[in-house]
Amino acid sequence: MLDFHAEATSEKQGVGFFCDGRVSLVVGTHTHVPTADHQVLPGGTAYMSDAGMTGDYDSVIGMQKEEPLQRFLTGIPSGRFEPAGGVATLSGIAVETDDATGLAVKVAPVRAGGRLEPAVPGFWT
Ligand SMILES: [Fe+2]
Repeated sequence: MLDFHAEATSEKQGVGFFCDGRVSLVVGTHTHVPTADHQVLPGGTAYMSDAGMTGDYDSVIGMQKEEPLQRFLTGIPSGRFEPAGGVATLSGIAVETDDATGLAVKVAPVRAGGRLEPAVPGFWT
């Protein structure tokens, strides 16, 4: 499994295809927002550009909205970023692998609680 902690989805996709068939999963982190591109690549590696964060989504990437908005609108900091304290959404990814090859068979997002729509992998039920 490769956790690719990066900003650009293009780089994450490139690394996903580079690693296809070599690892069970390539999943991106860092942008804090779950993507909808989960898939099993042709060589058998599960892939998702970003798993999202576990935290309060009534926020700017987990932080109270006011200071980030102030900086976006004026370019001037007026205080520190503070974590948002609302109900968290757990956000992640589930992968079923082939015991013989270690490669992925199924992949699906996982989300529970908070503001985002729940997602339970069909292969869990
Ligand atoms: Fe980061």
